[in-house]
Amino acid sequence: MQSYRLNAHRVLELVEGPTPTPGRGQVLVRVKATSLNSRDMVIASGLYPFPPLPNLIQLSDAAGVIEAVGPEAMRFRVGDRVVSSFNPTWFGGPVRKVGQMYGTDIDGWLSDYAVVDENVLVSMPEHLSFEEAATLPCAALTGWSAVAGAGPGDTVLVQGSGGVSLFALQFARAAGARVIATTSSEAKAERLLELGASDAVNYAETSHWGSVVRTLTDDRGVDIVVEVAGAATISQSVEALALHGTISLVGHLGGAGQGMDLMPLSLRFATLRAIGVGSRSDLEEMNRVVSQHRIRPVIDRVFPFSDAPRAFEHFAHGSRFGKILVSH
Ligand SMILES: NC(=O)c1ccc[n+]([C@@H]2O[C@H](COP(=O)([O-])OP(=O)(O)OC[C@H]3O[C@@H](n4cnc5c(N)ncnc54)[C@H](OP(=O)(O)O)[C@@H]3O)[C@@H](O)[C@H]2O)c1
Repeated sequence: MQSYRLNAHRVLELVEGPTPTPGRGQVLVRVKATSLNSRDMVIASGLYPFPPLPNLIQLSDAAGVIEAVGPEAMRFRVGDRVVSSFNPTWFGGPVRKVGQMYGTDIDGWLSDYAVVDENVLVSMPEHLSFEEAATLPCAALTGWSAVAGAGPGDTVLVQGSGGVSLFALQFARAAGARVIATTSSEAKAERLLELGASDAVNYAETSHWGSVVRTLTDDRGVDIVVEVAGAATISQSVEALALHGTISLVGHLGGAGQGMDLMPLSLRFATLRAIGVGSRSDLEEMNRVVSQHRIRPVIDRVFPFSDAPRAFEHFAHGSRFGKILVSH
C-alpha cells in the first residue's frame, strides 16, 4: 500500500509498504477520502506544541470502506462505509485524558489502507459521498460542539468562513437559530448568505464589528459566539454577546493577544466554554442530525491522492471556501 509519512525534515514522503492484516478486534479500511484541518498544517509546519513522532502517516479525518474484519471484531461488516473518529480514545462522556492522536503519536489516514481498532470508527451518513463524509470527524464535530444548545429564537455568531464556522452555521440553522456571520471578503459574504446566514459583517473593514452585530439584534446581542480567532477578537465577541450568552472558544487564528479585560465578560454574565472537538458518541449524535437534515458539507477542492502535498499547499496558502479533500 502507499502512504504519505511526514519525515524528520517535515516533508511528506510517499512510501510503499505491505497492506496490513487486521488482528483481534481490528478492521482493514480501504481509505477513500481524507480531509485537511488547521491542526495538520501546524503539525507539518513544526509548530505543534507537543513534538510529533517522525515518519507517521498524516491526517486524522477519513472515510472509507471496510475491506476485512479481524477475529472478534463485531461492529462492522465487509462493505460497510465508515468515518474515523478524531480522538481515537474518547468514546463518550467527559474526556479523562487526551490519549494518542493521529499524525503526532500514531499513524493517521493519508494512506490506501489502514488497520484500526473497530471502536475508532462510526457509520457514514448514507446520503454523503466519501469526500463529504471525510469532513465530519474534526471540523464538523467542532462546529457541532460549538453551537450546542442553540435553538429557535437564538442567534449564533460565526466568525469567518473557515471549515468549523461553515459547519457551525449549518448546524445552527438546522436547529432553528438565526446566524450572523463575519468575513473579510464580499464574495464569501454572498456565499454565507446563500448558506442561510441572515447577515454578513466584514470584520476587515469594520474593526468595531461587535457593536454592528449587536445592532443587527436590536441591541439584545447574540446567544452564542463561535470564537475561532481567540484573543485577537474576543473583546468584539463579548461586545456582540447577549446577557447570559456563551462564547465557544474554538481557535486562535488571530494569534496570541495581550490578555483581556474580564469585566465586560462579567457584565454580560457570560459563559466561556473551550471546545475540544468531541467524542465518538458526539460524532454519532451529530451524524444522525446530518442524515435527518440531509446536511451537505461545503467542499472547496478535491485533490487526487497522487497530489496530496498540493492539498496541504492549498490549505495553507490558497483562498478557500469550504473543506480541502484528498480523494484516494
Ligand atoms: N478547539 C477545537 O476543538 C478545534 C477544532 C478544530 C479547529 N480548531 C481551531 O479553530 C480554528 C478554526 O479552524 P478552521 O478549520 O475553521 O480553520 P480555517 O478553515 O483555516 O479558517 C480560516 C478562516 O478563518 C477566518 N479567520 C481567520 N482569521 C480571522 C479573524 N481574525 N477573525 C475572524 N475570522 C478569521 C477567515 O475567514 P474569512 O476568509 O471569511 O475572513 C479564514 O478564511 C483554527 O485555529 C483551528 O486550529 C479548534
